[in-house]
Amino acid sequence: MLQIISDLEDSQFNGKRVLVRVDFNVSVLNGSVSEDYRIRMTLPTIEYLSKRGSKVVLASHLGRPEGPQHSYSLEPVAKRLSEIIGKKTKVRFVNQCVGETVHNEIEKMNKGDILLLENLRFHKEEEANDLIFSKQIASLADIYVNDAFSTSHRRHASTHGAVKLFDIKLAGFNLNKEVGYLSMIKENPIKPFTLVIGGVKIKDKIGALENLLPKADRVLIGGAAAYTFLKAKGINTGNSVINFEHLPWVTNALSTFGDKIMLPSDHVIASSPKGYSASLVKGDIPDGMIGFDIGNETVERYSAEVGAKGPGTVFWNGPMGLFEIGFFANGTINIAKSMALAFWRGSKTLIGGGDTLEAMKKAGVSEGEVSHVSTGGGATLRFLAGDEMPGIVALNEK
Ligand code: ADP
Ligand code: 3PG
Ligand code: MG
Repeated sequence: MLQIISDLEDSQFNGKRVLVRVDFNVSVLNGSVSEDYRIRMTLPTIEYLSKRGSKVVLASHLGRPEGPQHSYSLEPVAKRLSEIIGKKTKVRFVNQCVGETVHNEIEKMNKGDILLLENLRFHKEEEANDLIFSKQIASLADIYVNDAFSTSHRRHASTHGAVKLFDIKLAGFNLNKEVGYLSMIKENPIKPFTLVIGGVKIKDKIGALENLLPKADRVLIGGAAAYTFLKAKGINTGNSVINFEHLPWVTNALSTFGDKIMLPSDHVIASSPKGYSASLVKGDIPDGMIGFDIGNETVERYSAEVGAKGPGTVFWNGPMGLFEIGFFANGTINIAKSMALAFWRGSKTLIGGGDTLEAMKKAGVSEGEVSHVSTGGGATLRFLAGDEMPGIVALNEK
């Protein structure tokens, strides 16, 4: 059971230094933040603590730098956070994440102020879960809060090693919300439960599929993932992306859960991703051609399952095609719209995966038209697979 920040008396936060591990690993283009969903999702926690008089110290990673690299600095994120929070609260940035300078900056903070530390991964000790580095992090604050669900599958100093050194460690609102929604899907989805799986990374999705296949009433497979399933059924897939390594797993899944798994019956094909020769084909994909999107008939069959049934639960991870290219975006755009329809009809709808969020935006479906958009990519799939989440486990460890 997670203890969350609102479980602690307000007075306990007053004047205290609170270290919040956030996941501000967002897209930064030419020095400014181009996608700020993860930042916005932590605002309830940051503002809650700030209003209760805490000195709010935010720590995050950005990307996978090798040592300090200017292009991986969190400074643009501090700027974006300041803009979102507005003038009422001060957001400062410090170009280090541990050590004397940071201590001095925290010392200067007033109650309610917010300080963002520089990228934790500028120190290799972060990912190594190093004890000395963990102690340096822990020395910065009185209370630890984890609001970085999307990094909680990492056993790093800021998500694990340092956490154990705090007496008071709590979950933030976003972490708690993610765990709530994803636990519902994992343990007790409202029926009928429809799973929509696409994208390319079958390997990363197998764990989640293993856990969810028995619970789902319908599983719709699209994207590149579909061709491995079609191949396993002996259908000609031309030059489409096939994951040969997982063909045995897919064959087995089809023999156990075949009656609930739906596969594309027609495809938008082309000889290359440029799409100039794109055409629609039913059934087998001719030799030399590649499937890049689900076809119109499949869109109709899938949309009917997602949007027209219910109210139940729908979880969608992975685009239905190479949606980045206009010729192949139709399937994904229609599934996103069906998700919105399912939501309006009362279903619980959840979206996970970085590319899926992009795709949803491209379809013009807003965050408010989905019950929950997970901030996690890998973390969401690991959680759904039932894997241990070191960042969450650490909140309950001494
Ligand atoms: P997510 O990030 O949502 O978990 P993935 O990373 O698994 O999704 O996959 C997303 C990628 O899959 C997108 O870049 C998309 O273009 C690609 N994709 C989807 N369908 C196909 C396809 N038929 N052929 C090639 N790439 C595809
Ligand atoms: C993510 O974007 O999935 C998280 O921020 C974790 O990043 P990582 O895969 O580099 O650990
Ligand atoms: Mg992806």
